[in-house]
Amino acid sequence: MSLNFNNPNGYIFDRNLRAAFANVSLYEHNTFQPFPVEYHGKYDIVNVRFMITLLDKEKVRLLLRSLKMILKPDDILQWFEPIAFNVKAVAPEGIEAPWNSKVAEIMRFNPPDCANWITLNCDMVKPEGYEAVAWDEFHLQEIHRLIWMQTCLMGMTEVVAGLAQSTDEADRAKREGLEQLMVGWEKEYEQGAYADMPWYFLVTRKPLEA
Ligand SMILES: C[S@@+](CC[C@H](N)C(=O)[O-])C[C@H]1O[C@@H](n2cnc3c(N)ncnc32)[C@H](O)[C@@H]1O
Repeated sequence: MSLNFNNPNGYIFDRNLRAAFANVSLYEHNTFQPFPVEYHGKYDIVNVRFMITLLDKEKVRLLLRSLKMILKPDDILQWFEPIAFNVKAVAPEGIEAPWNSKVAEIMRFNPPDCANWITLNCDMVKPEGYEAVAWDEFHLQEIHRLIWMQTCLMGMTEVVAGLAQSTDEADRAKREGLEQLMVGWEKEYEQGAYADMPWYFLVTRKPLEA
C-alpha cells in the first residue's frame, strides 16, 4: 500500500508502489553524516518528522548542518516533534492513573537532554545559521490520541523484545516492569487517562548567503 502522489484529487492508497511513487525517490543515508556532494543545494523544502528519540544536543547540530547542505539558498526546512519535557499526565476527575503518570515521567526525559536543545520559537536552529520563519505549538486532538498511544506501545513492545534477548537478570526485571506498565497504562487509557504533550512545528529558511 502506498500514497499516490500523482492523483490531483488528493491521496489514494495503491498496491503498486512503483507506479504510485513514480516521481518520488528513496535514498538511504545517515543524516548525522554530511550528504554526498551530488545532493548539495538541490532541495526547495526539507521536512523532518519525529526523530526526537534519536537526538541529543550534538546530534541535532550534525542533523541541522547536513540538512543545510542539501537545501537551496533561501529555501525551507520544516520540522515537527513533540515537546517532550512539557508532557502532562491527564486523567478524568476521580480516576486514579498511576501508570499514566509513570509514562508521562518517562516521556519527559526521553531523550534525557531534550530540554537543552528544544528551545522554543525556532531558536534551536539559529546557531546553525537558519533564519526563523514560523513556529507553532499544538496538542493532539482526541481523535489522534489513540493512534499516538498505540505508537508508544509499539515502541515499548520493541524495547521489550530487545530485553527478552538478554540473559541478564537486570534486563529481565526491566522487561517485566515495562510489560506491567504497558498493561496498566492501556487500562487507564480506556478510562480516559492520557499523556498530553505539546508538539512543535517550525519553519526556517537557509539564508541566501549561506
Ligand atoms: C520515529 S521514526 C519516524 C519516521 C518518519 N519520519 C515518520 O514521521 O513517520 C524515526 C526514523 O528515523 C530513522 N533513522 C534512524 N537513524 C537514522 C539516521 N542516522 N539517519 C536517518 N534516519 C534515521 C529510522 O529508520 C526511523 O524510520
